[in-house]
Amino acid sequence: GKGEKGDYVEVDDIEKLPHSEQKKWEQDQIRSAFFKFGAKDSQAQEEYELLLDEQIDFIQALQLEGNKEKKEEQEKSEYRKMRMTIEETKKSLPVYPFREPLIEAIRNYQILIVEGETGSGKTTQIPQYLHEAGFTADDKKIGCTQPRRVAAMSVAARVAQEMNVKLGNEVGYSIRFEDCTSDRTVIKYMTDGTLHREFLSEPDLASYSVMIIDEAHERTLHTDILFGLVKDITRFRPDLKLLISSATLDAEKFSKFFDDAPIFRIPGRRFPVDIYYTKAPEADYVDACVVSVLQIHATQPLGDILVFLTGQEEIETCVEMLQERTKKIGKKLKELIILPVYANLPSDMQAKIFDPTPEGARKVVLATNIAETSLTIDNIIYVIDPGFAKQNNFNSKTGMESLMVVPISKASANQRAGRAGRVAPGKCFRLYTAWAYKYELEENTTPEIQRINLGNAVLTLKALGINDLIHFDFLDPPPHETLVLALEQLYALGALNHHGELTKAGRRMAEFPTDPMLAKMLLASEKYKCSEEIVTIAAMLSVNSSIFYRPKDKIIHADTARKNFFHPKGDHLTLMNIYNQWAETEHSVQWCYENFVQYRSMKRARDVREQLASLMDRVEIEMISGVSDDTSIRKAITAELPRWVIYHELVFTSKEFMRQVTEIESKWLLEVAPHYYKSKELEDSTNKKMPKTVGKSSDTK
Ligand code: CDP
Ligand code: MG
Repeated sequence: GKGEKGDYVEVDDIEKLPHSEQKKWEQDQIRSAFFKFGAKDSQAQEEYELLLDEQIDFIQALQLEGNKEKKEEQEKSEYRKMRMTIEETKKSLPVYPFREPLIEAIRNYQILIVEGETGSGKTTQIPQYLHEAGFTADDKKIGCTQPRRVAAMSVAARVAQEMNVKLGNEVGYSIRFEDCTSDRTVIKYMTDGTLHREFLSEPDLASYSVMIIDEAHERTLHTDILFGLVKDITRFRPDLKLLISSATLDAEKFSKFFDDAPIFRIPGRRFPVDIYYTKAPEADYVDACVVSVLQIHATQPLGDILVFLTGQEEIETCVEMLQERTKKIGKKLKELIILPVYANLPSDMQAKIFDPTPEGARKVVLATNIAETSLTIDNIIYVIDPGFAKQNNFNSKTGMESLMVVPISKASANQRAGRAGRVAPGKCFRLYTAWAYKYELEENTTPEIQRINLGNAVLTLKALGINDLIHFDFLDPPPHETLVLALEQLYALGALNHHGELTKAGRRMAEFPTDPMLAKMLLASEKYKCSEEIVTIAAMLSVNSSIFYRPKDKIIHADTARKNFFHPKGDHLTLMNIYNQWAETEHSVQWCYENFVQYRSMKRARDVREQLASLMDRVEIEMISGVSDDTSIRKAITAELPRWVIYHELVFTSKEFMRQVTEIESKWLLEVAPHYYKSKELEDSTNKKMPKTVGKSSDTK
């Protein structure tokens, strides 16, 4: 890659220097760097706009002068690769030649660890091979877990397409609040959280002949707990086959945990990926992404681009900026197809990222770390990696859960880079310095079980009859304090008695796939005769995307609309107001549009509400409404988590925020949780016995 380096430097050049020299070199770079991408104050902003114009001119010049012939040749060969039929694609995957030996190994061993580079066909092909080999005879299913909802849905859609069946029939998926399977389903993709919950109704997984715990390297909380549960089951169900499938990390560790199960390695096919680093740290990585995309588009041979961002908002900003700037450049450049992908994106939009790029155009996919290992998008040649991801963290000392943008680990950075080398030699542009990579990034990401709130997981385990959690078979045990805190929270909510045993209320709470606090609030609605209202509030709280939108040119209107919903007694009642008004318009799109409310979020709230209502039926709570006043509703909310003001979530982003706050009276605490509060304690406002735990279920990534 000489001559195309532009603003990037190859790591080899500076890695030859001694460490002290490297640091000095970097500082020199920063000092001498004419500010490259983005600047914050307004004068700098103006200069930057000018610079951008210059850059565009420069880009266009390059485009015109570029070696056209050479480029066209390369482009042609790339398109040949892309225009393969489904059958050809299946046969071209690295797993294909290993079909027979793999099935053989599965027949011979009860537990098998399958290791293979991302994109080798583990997730989409292995269940099909098993189906063809007869593992779905006798009405048994093949299950396959995914840590992410998006992956479960899109992989199921892909496999249904490959098998030429309708999604939801032979091939289906099941995720929280959405079940797209039927009696005919033989290949079932689901989130790890969903399988965890399935244990409650089918503790021996009797309907499955094979269970695949996929993307095991992601080490989500649910996947980690599943390891212990499925390992236990294989002991008394010798006919159940278990596959633990993972990218090329940790296979030995999994093997050891599963009593030295054999490892089946699918040799990867990976083209070399050149890695480039920025000379200086980036002030604004979103902006740097935009500029880098445009530079690649203008100066590099065709081939799609994958950009890793941390979340929906960032992705939307980036999409807007790219649209604006490509418009500015006009028709002088080839077409750039800009596609976002994140968890809350509607599935038809998500599916677009897999559409083949039209000839002569280039696709840029802006993704969260969904695209790191869970989803493979073909034809990616360029990866832009700013080096960040959003991560849930839980501090057991303060009881505070934080969703923060944190630097990724080296392992993640390498996975991301690897995405560029699947179909041809690729390039990865890291928007951080070689120094930062080498000395600032951690080797591996800490497993979720060691850094998040365990309330929900502990409740389900208790409901499964696993009482001794300290000695549960964990691959890596959670910190003792976190476990104790979860038990304490469940005790405060009345789900456990003082022996740590599940109470009747706890058993009912476990029926809800929400965090224990919401489950408690749902149960409490029975006593206060406001189940309809509380189900609405719970549904609105479960919508993970924002309810409102604020277009830049209509901020005042949007804020006014928002104020109109405001309920003086708190945000929970405000949420209820919004939902009820929307429901009165018969769920109108127009109404959402006029009130600056996100239709998508409301639609999701409606789906969730339906699911919750049917679960209320299961725990035999009648749906009633209109009987009670605001006070009763607030009392039921108080059961969610007793405190002076009730907050549903305390999150730490840039500073502490309480989200969804409702005013309550302290004496209500005695009423809803008499076992936990004594009246004297409540008079002393400095008392320490405050429930510390707040949390949010994590089945929605
Ligand atoms: O699981 P693993 O990472 O080993 O690979 P996979 O997800 O089974 O992907 C195998 C192939 O299927 C890749 O070429 C993907 O691009 C393709 N695929 C697709 O086209 N559409 C999807 N929704 C999922 C996978
Ligand atoms: Mg996979």
